Formats: sequence, C-alpha cells, structure tokens
Amino acid sequence: MEKASTAFSASIFTAIFLLVSTLYTQGVEGSIIGVNYGTVANNLPPPEQVARFLSESTIISSVRLFDTNADILRAFAHTGIAVTVTATNDQIPNLTRIEFAQEWLKFNVRPYIPATNIVRIFVGNEVISTANKLLIASLVPAMETLHTALVGASLDRRIKISTPHSLGILSDSSPPSTGKFRQGYDTHVLKPLLRFLRDTNSPFMINPYPFFGSSPETLDYALFRPSSAGVLDENTRLSYTNMLDAQLDSVFSAMKLLGFSDVEIVISETGWPSLGDSSQAGVDAESAAEYNRNLMQHVTSGAGTPLMPNRTFETYIFALFNEDLKPGPTCERNFGLFRPDMTPVYDIGILRSTVAAASKFHHAAYFSVLTIGLLIISNHGDHNMLCEFLVIVN
Ligand SMILES: *[C@@H]1O[C@H](CO)[C@@H](O)[C@H](O)[C@H]1NC(C)=O
Ligand SMILES: *[C@@H]1O[C@H](CO)[C@@H](O)[C@H](O)[C@H]1NC(C)=O
Repeated sequence: MEKASTAFSASIFTAIFLLVSTLYTQGVEGSIIGVNYGTVANNLPPPEQVARFLSESTIISSVRLFDTNADILRAFAHTGIAVTVTATNDQIPNLTRIEFAQEWLKFNVRPYIPATNIVRIFVGNEVISTANKLLIASLVPAMETLHTALVGASLDRRIKISTPHSLGILSDSSPPSTGKFRQGYDTHVLKPLLRFLRDTNSPFMINPYPFFGSSPETLDYALFRPSSAGVLDENTRLSYTNMLDAQLDSVFSAMKLLGFSDVEIVISETGWPSLGDSSQAGVDAESAAEYNRNLMQHVTSGAGTPLMPNRTFETYIFALFNEDLKPGPTCERNFGLFRPDMTPVYDIGILRSTVAAASKFHHAAYFSVLTIGLLIISNHGDHNMLCEFLVIVN
C-alpha cells in the first residue's frame, strides 16, 4: 500500500511536471520573432529593465546582440529568452587561432551560461560587405576554430555558429530564380561556409531589407500590400506578391546553385524606419508599423515563399530601439520599435495584451489549484477522485 501510493505520487508529479512544461513551452514554440538589440545610443534604459520588459511585456522570444556586452548578458539570465552574441569583425583574424578561440569562449560565453540562454554566436557581421581581404579570408577558418573550441567545451549542441550577410553577397537577384553569389566569393567563401553550416546543423543568416530595395513605384510590393500588382518570375512562372519573398528566393537560388538548398535560412535582420529625410517615400511610423506587422504575419503564417513553400522563418526585427548615435541619414537612427523610454514608436502587436496577461495569471492559478488538488488526492491514492477532480477543474 505504502509502495503503491509512493509510485502513484511519483507518477502524479511526473504528470504535473509534463503539463507545466507543456504550458511553458507553448508560448515559445513556433514563436520565432526576435529583435536586434543594438546599443549605438547614449540614452538607452539599463539592460535589466530591457530584459524584464521583453520577457514580461512582449511576445519576443529571442534577441541578437552585436557584441558580448557583459551587463546585457547578465540581465538576460533566467529570462529564458534565446540570446545570440557576436564576435566583432576585428576579432575574426585572432579567432582563427584555437588558443584565442578558447579564451574568447572562456571570457565571453562561459561565465553567463546556462543562466543566460546563449544559443548562437555570430562570427562578425556582414563580413563580405566590408571588402576587407583579411577578414573575408579569415571568416570560415574563424568559425571552424570557434566550433572546435565549443566541441572541446562540450557546448556545440547548445550553441551554434553562423554569420549574417547583407544582400550585397548576390551579383544577380532579379528575377529570384537567377539569384547568384558574387563570383570569387561563391567558391572561396560561401561554399565552404555553407558546408560548415550544413555539417554543424546551423542556419544561413541573411539581412534582407525591402526598404532599401523599394521606390515609390514598388512601395506597395515592399510593404506586403494586397494592392501590389506582384511580379512574375518568367523562368519559373511563379508569381511574387511581396519583395521580401523575392529577396529570400534569390538567396535560396544562389544557395541551390552551389548545392546547398537544404541549409536553413534565418532572417537575422529586417526592418523599416519610422522617420527619414523628407525626400524619402513611405518613411513614417504608419509604413514601419505596416511593414513589421505584415512581416510577422507572413513569416509565421507557414505560407513560406514561392521557392520555399509551406514553412516559417525565424526572424529578427531591426531594431529594438531607436539609436541616436548611429551615423548616416536620419532613417538609420529610426529603425526602432521602441523609444529609449520603452514606449512603442508604433504598435505591431508584440506587446502582451492585458487579456494575455490575465490568461497567464489564470493558467498559473489553474495549475496551483490542480497541483494542490492532485497532492491531496495522491495522498489518498484514489484514482476515481483524481478523474473527477480533473473534470471539475477543466
Ligand atoms: C589579437 O591578438 C593579439 C595577440 O594576442 C592582441 O594583441 C590583439 O589585441 C588581439 N586583437 C583583438 C581585436 O582582439
Ligand atoms: C503546401 O501546402 C499546400 C496546402 O496545404 C499543399 O497543397 C502543397 O502541396 C504543399 N506544398 C509542398 C511543397 O509541400
């Protein structure tokens, strides 16, 4: 009797654990919207406040950092938010040396895990666009060396390595079926890079910006508006209803040409500014909201693209904040979803609604009652009572 009751309690505990873990993962599962947390500003809120805000008040489940800022990494501890860190471009040549790669991990990653959920390391940012021969030649060796260091630390399953690219890596992109990587880089950099990504089960990261590809004539197409006439790819007879799909498919075509159509694509940056110089069309908060709202809907819908149908794309919106110290035209400082005081620049539905918050509370209350009820029942070892109880709380 004593033994049976213990076994029964154990199975109840397992059941509760499974139920609660299911509930906890449900919100994250399939939710693949992240943000780029850039910090080129002098007025941003403290990282702890940002981490709390993101985890408690938004549906954002992932962030990408442009470095390994210790304060930010500590702030995201115990939030569950998936974090991508970046080894900056200037560190790439050194990272080709195993001793340096090991030290880099020891200093920049190991102190923060597992409390902080670091899932990815970017080696550099848009390295090919720098046109710096040393950086470009060192890119893949640095990624391989850092991976070897991860394997040595038994962290290669937890943390994946990749590197983001601008669309400048393509020499041809229109129509999408003719997408090609720039000659020279294709066989010398992208082929070994894609082989590394395939071997380590890591995605190819791309930064498509329909904003930079659009003109007043193609604004509807860039903003996913149904009013857009769309564009037909004469080679495939596939019709494109939005510019993002066309950009993603030209990257896909270029990868396919090298024999790597099986490597996953992730959108590491995309966005739309809410303010620009007056000469630019479609640069306002309404257009930015429209782009980002339609983007999120599209990448999570499961529609995929004409060449990659029926799939979703993990997507990182650029950016979390407006960054006042970014150089260049006005728009560069105004890609943020939020102002430095955490107020939204516009609404795209990433804030958890009060209804969602209430339902979260309801779930917590539900499981407290359920747990207490099950504990009482398991002590009595009465299966029928358990079933009745489950019917009542449901
Ligand atoms: C690269 O390594 C050298 C020698 O260890 C060091 O002096 C230099 O600061 C490193 N550069 C960077 C950008 O980390
Ligand atoms: C995509 O989904 C549609 C609708 O469910 C289906 O008809 C089509 O065959 C699917 N295509 C692929 C390539 O799986």
